[in-house]
This record gives sequence, C-alpha cells and structure tokens, in this order.
Amino acid sequence: MPTDTLPFNESSNRLRRPVDDKLAALMNGEKAVVRIVGPRRIGKTEAVSSYAREKNTPILCVTIQQVPRDLGAGSIVLAILEREIAALIQTGSKLGKILGKTDRNKRKSETKREAKAELRIPGGFGSLSAKVEKTRTTEAVAARQADAEIAAALRCLELAAMATNTRPIVFFDEIQELLVNDEAGMPTVWAIRNEAQHHTACRYVFAGSNQRLFAKLQAGRQAPLLNWGSELTMPPLTTAEIDAWAIPLFKKGGRHISSLSAATELLAGKIGEVVEVCNKLWIDSKREDVLDEGVQREAVKAVARQQATLGRTTSELTSNQMKVLRWIVMNPGISPYTKPAKASLKLNDGSVATALTTLVNKELIESYGPNQFVAATPLNVYASINPQLWDNSKRSRPLTPSLDRL
Ligand SMILES: Nc1ncnc2c1ncn2[C@@H]1O[C@H](COP(=O)(O)OP(=O)(O)O)[C@@H](O)[C@H]1O
Ligand SMILES: [Mg+2]
Repeated sequence: MPTDTLPFNESSNRLRRPVDDKLAALMNGEKAVVRIVGPRRIGKTEAVSSYAREKNTPILCVTIQQVPRDLGAGSIVLAILEREIAALIQTGSKLGKILGKTDRNKRKSETKREAKAELRIPGGFGSLSAKVEKTRTTEAVAARQADAEIAAALRCLELAAMATNTRPIVFFDEIQELLVNDEAGMPTVWAIRNEAQHHTACRYVFAGSNQRLFAKLQAGRQAPLLNWGSELTMPPLTTAEIDAWAIPLFKKGGRHISSLSAATELLAGKIGEVVEVCNKLWIDSKREDVLDEGVQREAVKAVARQQATLGRTTSELTSNQMKVLRWIVMNPGISPYTKPAKASLKLNDGSVATALTTLVNKELIESYGPNQFVAATPLNVYASINPQLWDNSKRSRPLTPSLDRL
C-alpha cells in the first residue's frame, strides 16, 4: 500500500497542538524570530512547514545536514540559501521577481573586497612560515567571504520582502550541525545574527534537535542566538493527545480501538515514532479488526525490529549507564531522581548524574527540561538493549513490569 494513502500521513489529518498556535502568534510579531527546541522527531520541522503551507507564505528551508570537515560551514549555508532563493525566483511570485533582478555577481565582488579588507594582517607572520600563513589567510578569506555573502543574500531578501510587502520565513533547521566540527561554524551563525537582527520583514526560525549543541548557540556569553527572539519548546505528546488524534482516524477506517496507550508507552511522545507505529497497525489490519493491547505491542515490536540496532554504542556502556538507559527507555520523561526511579535503579544521585551525562554525550538520550529525558531513538535503543526479545526461542527475562507486558 503506498504510504501516501495512510491517513496518519495526510497533511489534512495532521495533529494540531497548542504549540501551533504559539508559533502562529510569534510569527505575527513585528519582529519574528523564533528558536524551536525539542527532542528529535517531536515535530519541529513539520510545525514550521505546515504553518508556511497553511498561510501560503514563502519559506526558505536552510536545513543543515552533516558538515564535512573539509567544507566550511559558511559555504554550505550559502549554497543552500542560494538554492532556496533560486527556487523562490522560479515560483514567479512578486517576491521572486524582485529577487531575480538583484545581480548576484555584483554582490559577490563587493563582499570579496570587504572580506579581504577585514582580514589584512598587520606586521610580519610571526613564527609561522609565510606559505602556511598564506594558505590559512586564503582559507580564512574564503570563509569570511561566504559569511559576508550569506549576510548580503539575507539583506537582498529583506529588501525584496519590504518592497513587496511580504514576510517570507527563513528557516534554519538543524542549525546545531554547524557546530559539530570544533564549533567552526560559530562565525557563520554570528554573521546570520548580525545581519538578521535588523530585519523586520523577513521572519526567522531556528530549530535544533541535538539539545547539547543547540544549547551552545543559545546559552553563554559567546552564544550567537542568546536572548534573540523567543524560545518555543516543543514537548513530547501525551497519551491523551495521541488518542484524541489517532483514535478517530482508526475508527473512521472501521478499526475497533479505544486507546493507543499500549502502542505508545515506549515512544517517548515522539510524533515521528507514533506515526510509524500507527501506520504499521493500519497496514496490518482491516475494517472490523480489533486493535487490542496485544496487537498494539506486536506492532511496536515489528517496527522496532526493522530499526538498526545500536550495537557497539550500547555494548560499550557500563552497567550503571545501561541501568539508567533502560530506565529512561521504559519511563520516558519521568525524572530518574524520583523515589520510584531510585528504588528501581538502586543508584545514588551522583551515579545517576554521571550516567546521564555520558548517555547524553553519546546521544543515546536527550534532555528536554530539568531532569526530563527521553531516548533519542526510543525503538532503536529498545531493540539494542533488549535483543533477546526478538529471539523467539529464548524466553526474554522481563526488565521492568511494563516491559513484562510486551
Ligand atoms: N502535527 C503532526 N501531525 C502528524 N504528523 C506529524 C506532525 N508533526 C510531525 N509529524 C510527522 O512526524 C515525523 C517527525 O516530524 P519532524 O517535524 O520531522 O520532527 P523533528 O523536526 O522534530 O525532528 C515526520 O514524519 C512528520 O511527518
Ligand atoms: Mg527536523
């Protein structure tokens, strides 16, 4: 069955959340700058794109994927931004037409001159050989030039937006990826901020999944996104929210189901995983089928089985780290410092804290609030730490009461 016929994937059926209204309110501000934070697969990207779709607003999606070591962050952002501008020009809208008229080559030669002037090094080259210094200077000029060109492109966009009385959205998604290589992309983020903070026509949204890295952009003296615009937190879905959304869709398709709590208890409120499990339940059933707890758990297992296990990452964990990871997978979002958690973990606060830090650093778990953690990829982690469950010949030993039911 083609996935586009699945009710849970249809944009007209999308789940509306209170954050949608918060986003819409922020986007109506005179100056609209929003930083969206939340664990991965929680619906950040979709919230922004559906807003743009519903409001019929031009959107430039600058989605940063892994930045290769030998490529500068600036040149990557620039390439994506220019591709998005080109796409806007293609639409032939008022905004696109004006943008098409600005001469990119002129912009380029101007920024080149600026970048060189800024980098002129006074005096000698110190202990470094002139040749090495020259290469470094050339690289630095190229990096500065890319950053200056990003600023120039954003400036053009702002001018065009003002001229046409439109408010395009510039969406920097997964922006933390610019920081992965020793924070080499920090100047690029600064260049974006220094230019965009004066803008009123263009609206800016920054979203990031990797909390630890995204935090670097938002907290601390050196953070370019500090105190800029509003922060919008996207919390995990509750079971009530999931049921209110998905149960009517299942019922419309003739399935008998009263709650998805069994299917979703391990999914850490991540809409991405919820949709996957709902799709699986839908594909494997037909009208009049009863989707009870047992059927739901089978669907979870089937989806988890399809996911790559994390292998080495989890096998290298200490027993304390493994205990804490298991606990978080089974109890997403609940503080591991609560009494029942401690009773089950049998670890002191210090050991729990140390384990949590390692698990966050290994990107196995994400924090989204004080003492709130979810597995980064719940089913993936689940499949990795509990492989015996997939082996039918061995009876799996339950880890916790809730796992026992699976
Ligand atoms: N409100 C929603 N209703 C239905 N499906 C959604 C909704 N938000 C996200 N999804 C689906 O969940 C998946 C993950 O969402 P995404 O926005 O990519 O998460 P994030 O950007 O936080 O990593 C996507 O496949 C998306 O289609
Ligand atoms: Mg995303």
